[in-house]
Amino acid sequence: MPETLIRPSRDLPEGFAHRMVAWQRQHGRQSLPWQNTQDPYRVWLSEIMLQQTQVSTVLDYFPRFLVRFPDVAALAAAQQDDVLALWSGLGYYSRARNLHKCAQEVMSRFGGAFPRQAEDLQTLPGIGRSTAAAIAAFCFQERAAILDGNVKRVLTRVLGYGDDLAVAKNERALWALAQDLLPEKPADMPRYTQALMDLGATVCLPRKVQCDTCPVSSLCQAQGQGEPLAYPVKTRKLKRTSATLWLLWAVNAQGQVWLQKRPDKGIWAGLFSLPVFDSEDELLAAWAQGHGAHYIEPWKHVLTHRDLYLHPVRMTGTAKNAPACEGQWVDAAVWPAMGLPAPIRTLLEG
Ligand code: ADE
Repeated sequence: MPETLIRPSRDLPEGFAHRMVAWQRQHGRQSLPWQNTQDPYRVWLSEIMLQQTQVSTVLDYFPRFLVRFPDVAALAAAQQDDVLALWSGLGYYSRARNLHKCAQEVMSRFGGAFPRQAEDLQTLPGIGRSTAAAIAAFCFQERAAILDGNVKRVLTRVLGYGDDLAVAKNERALWALAQDLLPEKPADMPRYTQALMDLGATVCLPRKVQCDTCPVSSLCQAQGQGEPLAYPVKTRKLKRTSATLWLLWAVNAQGQVWLQKRPDKGIWAGLFSLPVFDSEDELLAAWAQGHGAHYIEPWKHVLTHRDLYLHPVRMTGTAKNAPACEGQWVDAAVWPAMGLPAPIRTLLEG
C-alpha cells in the first residue's frame, strides 16, 4: 500500500464527553437568557449575537430585540432599517442584514418554522456550519459538532492536534475529530455543546489557562506536554489594512444633521452615516455654502481587519442649503433611534 494512504488512527481521549457533561452540570453557566429554552428563534438570535460580541453586551441587546421582534414572523415583516437600528452598537452589521434575510427565508422556504437539522439550517443566510450545529444540538438534540474559535482551542489542546488550521484539509480533519468526540446519547447534546463553549470561555483561555480547574486536564495532550499555549497552530494571519475617511458633519439652522444611507456593500453597509469622502478637498467641495468649518480632532477607529482614520469637519448653514451629496436633513429628535455606526453616534452625541 502506498505510504501516503496510511493514516495513523488518533487515540481519542476516553470519557471526554462524559466528563464535559458532568462538569457543565456542576460548574457551567446555567441561567443565561438563551439557555433553558428549545425555541430555535431565541437560540439562533443569541448565537448570531454571540458570534463576535461578548456575553455581557449581548445580555443587554438580546431582551430588547425580543421585545421588539418576539418571533421570526415579526422579524421577517420588519423594515431592514429598523433591524439595523436595533443592532446599532453591536457592530458587524452584515450579521443584522443576514438575520433579517434569514427570518424572511424561514417564512418563505420553511413555512415559518426553523428546520431541525444542521444540514438544512446551514443553507440559511448567516448560519455557518458551527452555528447550524449549535442550534440543532441545543433545540433538537442532534449529534452535530460545533467548532468555533474557542472550541478549536479546546479540542486542539486536548488532542494535541498540531497541524496547521490555515490548511483546509487539516481543518476538515479537526471537524471529523470533533464529530468523533460527541456523546453517544442525543439527550446529552445540549449540555455537551454548552460545556465546550463554557470551558473555552472560562477555563481553556487563549493565554491564562486554568488547567487546575479543568475537568479534562488528565486527558489533555497539551497539558501532558506542558505546552497548552502551543495550540492551536494557525500560520496565515489576515493582513490589516487602513483607510482615511473625511466626514462631513453638516448642521443647518434648525439643528438638523445631513445623513446619508450607506450603499449595500462596503464600510457601514446599509447604515445611516455622515457623508464620507476620500479627501478633504472632496468634502469641502460638497458644501461650499457651509461656513465656519471646524476641524474635529481626528481619531483612529479600530475594526477587526481595518483601522479607520476618521477626520470629521463640522460646518453650519441655513436650512435652505443642502450639501451636494446624497442624503437628507434629519431632526435631532430622530437620528438617535436610527442605525448609525458606533463612532458616528459617539461623535454626534458629543
Ligand atoms: N457563545 C456562543 N454561544 C454561546 C452560548 N450559547 N452561551 C454562552 N456563550 C456563547
